[in-house]
Amino acid sequence: NWNASNIIEDQVQAIRREVGPHQVICGLSGGVDSAVAAALVHKAVGDQLTCVFVDHGLLRKGEVEQVKHDFVKATGIKLIAVDASDDFLAALKGVSEPERKRKIIGEKFIRTFEKAARQVVEQAGQKGEEVRFLVQGTLYPDVVESGGGDGASNIKSHHNVGGLPDDLNFTLVEPLRALFKDEVRAIGTELGLPDEIVWRQPFPGPGLGIRIIGDITRERLDLLRDADAIAREEMTKAGLDRDIWQCPVVLLSDVHSVGVQGDERTYGSPIVLRPVSSEDAMTADWSRLPYDVLATISTRITNECTGINRVVLDVTSKPPATIEWE
Ligand code: XMP
Repeated sequence: NWNASNIIEDQVQAIRREVGPHQVICGLSGGVDSAVAAALVHKAVGDQLTCVFVDHGLLRKGEVEQVKHDFVKATGIKLIAVDASDDFLAALKGVSEPERKRKIIGEKFIRTFEKAARQVVEQAGQKGEEVRFLVQGTLYPDVVESGGGDGASNIKSHHNVGGLPDDLNFTLVEPLRALFKDEVRAIGTELGLPDEIVWRQPFPGPGLGIRIIGDITRERLDLLRDADAIAREEMTKAGLDRDIWQCPVVLLSDVHSVGVQGDERTYGSPIVLRPVSSEDAMTADWSRLPYDVLATISTRITNECTGINRVVLDVTSKPPATIEWE
């Protein structure tokens, strides 16, 4: 029978055996998988591990702080945080086509990660050490999916943050390869990670970049970040976090509709709420959120987010729609 502390003990032993005295590097995405993988490796080899976190400027409110402060505080991990948001936003300027956005974000991410990884390698070299291993938060379903070819990857070119730089010659350490998401969460909790990280909903690598329908600007990102934070806050308050799989909040920035706010005519953009329930994201149903929660979210978003005069609910399953709008 399954037991988080047994798995942790086994993995810690296995990681120590594999890594020996060498240095290890890990790319953090802010998501639960990479966080738990890093915490596990840290428990095994301590300061031999260095984590790299690339902030692409497309994260949600509070997520950068969660990684830089809460995660580091909970684990004591050595972290290099790179703020590359200017760089990403410049590369994305004027781009509205979803697959081009993904390609640009994916490539920039790998380049940025590589650069940081090289620094880690050089610094270790100066101390006469060798960085030989790269941690990945690969789960069992990822292993099955990439081997099995489920066809989903033909629909959207999902890029996973933490992609492997090709010419750096690392050996992969994948301590979660045999596990499912719920097991990873149990291990994260056992390792003392904060709930905000352990219970984080799946969030796409390209982040808010594929939740702005239209091109990406700093202003649009700030607007969407505020609307998303309100939706999350109200769902948490209503105790719904563990009932829904994820709830993309989407800004239709190129759509305008007429509204009336404070006796004035407005011409603003809509926000879409896309709460879904799912087992594995391959199929999904739209979540029947309580009307009063939807009402509070709608009132708050239109009151607090200047430029938004309408909130709409997506009531489509997957298929025929996908979970994300792009
Ligand atoms: P779709 O929109 O294809 O999403 O129904 C299925 C799941 O995958 C996530 N998703 C992504 N994750 N990079 C990622 O790492 C991506 O480009 C990407 N696109 C979608 C989505 O949030 C959902 O959980």
